[in-house]
Amino acid sequence: MELGLAGKTALVTGGSKGIGLETARALAREGVKVLICARREQALADAAHDIMQTTQAKIETHSLDVTKAEQIATIPSMVREKLGRIDILVNNAGTGTYKPFLDVTDDELLEGMAINFFAQFRICQRIVPMMIARGGGRIVNVSGETGIMTLNAPFLSSCTGPAKAAEIRFSNVLANELAPHNIRVNCVIPGFIYTPERFAKWEREMVKRNLSADNAERARAQWSTNQGSTGMRWGTPQEIANLIVFTVSDAASYINGAGLVADNAMDKS
Ligand SMILES: NC(=O)c1ccc[n+]([C@@H]2O[C@H](COP(=O)([O-])OP(=O)(O)OC[C@H]3O[C@@H](n4cnc5c(N)ncnc54)[C@H](OP(=O)(O)O)[C@@H]3O)[C@@H](O)[C@H]2O)c1
Repeated sequence: MELGLAGKTALVTGGSKGIGLETARALAREGVKVLICARREQALADAAHDIMQTTQAKIETHSLDVTKAEQIATIPSMVREKLGRIDILVNNAGTGTYKPFLDVTDDELLEGMAINFFAQFRICQRIVPMMIARGGGRIVNVSGETGIMTLNAPFLSSCTGPAKAAEIRFSNVLANELAPHNIRVNCVIPGFIYTPERFAKWEREMVKRNLSADNAERARAQWSTNQGSTGMRWGTPQEIANLIVFTVSDAASYINGAGLVADNAMDKS
């Protein structure tokens, strides 16, 4: 299959870890010039080094907090400086807050929207004019299963689920509006993906609820079982990266405005 990605340029947010790191690596392998951003500079440098070791590609990096509108405003100049132009945007940075509805603070509510939906909306507003001027582009917004299904405790997602749902709807609306500009916008919706940072966060969330390590393990196993799918397993960041790379490639030219779920048949009933 011809992906047609060689020589393209891409910005991947949250590109220093997990799904973003593997997406940057997979794009680099296809000959894409990649710029990754995240907050921690050392993690960005480590990721760039790691990708260089496996692909020989030089990865550009930039430290950026996607929850800060004033930092997002610097993206166009940073992209021009480090990539020259932009063909592909992967809005991947994001995270979740898992706690009972009545325990969610107002700060957590605002932060949940800021790192998920607001960041994707604001970054698209900065990048889309560059794509229009260039004659086209491809955007993938990374959402999550909390946007389409209700999870059992301890993964209560009254805060995160609506933000992730907004990302799916936003992608669909934007695809429709930008189609005349030859810009495709899709949303990738991962199931449960084993990324070390994410697991450490879940452990911390569980500990806050006074779960012992044993109980945390049991809760996770129980939760997996509750999702009900036979052969349930955690996905890998590479499996999601493969889908993102396909979606931004020429091979996916008729896929636009879609919410693409990759979750190994998790039960959504
Ligand atoms: N893993 C899963 O099971 C799963 C499931 C469904 C959906 N997702 C979605 O997939 C995406 C990636 O998840 P992941 O599990 O791969 O994440 P991860 O391993 O926790 O990595 C998160 C990445 O985002 C960066 N980041 C976090 N906050 C940021 C901020 N405010 N500004 C800029 N960068 C920031 C992190 O670097 P710094 O901390 O240095 O900034 C890191 O590079 C997210 O949108 C997530 O909601 C994941």
